Amino acid sequence: MTFKFARLGALAVGVIAMTGVALTPTTAQPRQVVNVYSARTYGAMEAAFVEFTEQTGIEVRVSQGSSQALLERLRAEGAQTPADLFFTIDAGTLDLAAEEGLLQPLESETILAAVPEALRDDQNHWFGISQRLRTIMYNPDAVAEADIPQTYADLTDPKWNGRLCLRPATHIYTISLTAALVANLGEEEARAIVQGWVDNQPQYIDSDTEILRTIAAGGCDVGLTNHYYLARLRNEDPAFPVMPVWANQGDEDTGVFRNLSGAGITANAINYDNAVTLLEWLVTEGQAADETGIPGGNYEFPVNPEAEVLPLLTEIFGDLADVKIDPLPVVEYGDYQDEALIILEETGYGF
Ligand SMILES: [Fe+2]
Repeated sequence: MTFKFARLGALAVGVIAMTGVALTPTTAQPRQVVNVYSARTYGAMEAAFVEFTEQTGIEVRVSQGSSQALLERLRAEGAQTPADLFFTIDAGTLDLAAEEGLLQPLESETILAAVPEALRDDQNHWFGISQRLRTIMYNPDAVAEADIPQTYADLTDPKWNGRLCLRPATHIYTISLTAALVANLGEEEARAIVQGWVDNQPQYIDSDTEILRTIAAGGCDVGLTNHYYLARLRNEDPAFPVMPVWANQGDEDTGVFRNLSGAGITANAINYDNAVTLLEWLVTEGQAADETGIPGGNYEFPVNPEAEVLPLLTEIFGDLADVKIDPLPVVEYGDYQDEALIILEETGYGF
């Protein structure tokens, strides 16, 4: 991982003038910059950030890494971090950052009006920016109508032995989905489901796109991925031969697992005002359904109920309003991550 930020602290250091007298600048130059630690890996610079700079003149400097690696970095850097905004692909990681004092609360009427309560921290340390659903994908040529799995637990059926593709446990998507199972079903039942997946000898593939391509090519018949990877492939090829199922829609079921990409302002943000401006923009103009918005640029669902949903998403997945979504408050995901990791390790899930 590389970090390309300028040494922002250098500007505050006194300079030695020709006379030999130490001078401290009395007026700081306004730096129209905002530094973002981003776990989003959908292009080095997302088009939405470019759009933001065009609209506001504030340059966005992005430093990328996994959610966990960036959290580690924030911990290590403490008050010295150059990051103003922590932008992750996982509510659990934001929750941990908030609990550890790495984020500061923000009372912004703009943001509170734009982001529904269920999609933000109840203490306003972080806010959802886009929604992603992790669900079941299958190959309709290889799976008979009556066999189509309807729940995460259905993938434990021995009929999927050797036919299942999953993301390894090193990835936050797997950890958070498992954490949600623990939160909803309890440790024992969650462990039984994970064990059932493991017993079906899955192929572990560390890319949701590759999981979908493998299903399409007949390398496996069913799998779990985030919804937008299918939308991306369908955008390239409308006949891409993988079908989605919203998981856990039955009366007794908990609903499909939702995660958020979201962001919070770091506790000691140097470019605080610019970070606020960016965050407010991300949940308003930045909700656009084309590539100038965060959801539109990656086929995600907006958090702002006023925002349009990309028509391709509705075409593939139907109306989100008709989908039963896991009601677990996203702020609770972080609390179950440790337990999830233990289950993944002890059941022999692939890392
Ligand atoms: Fe992703």
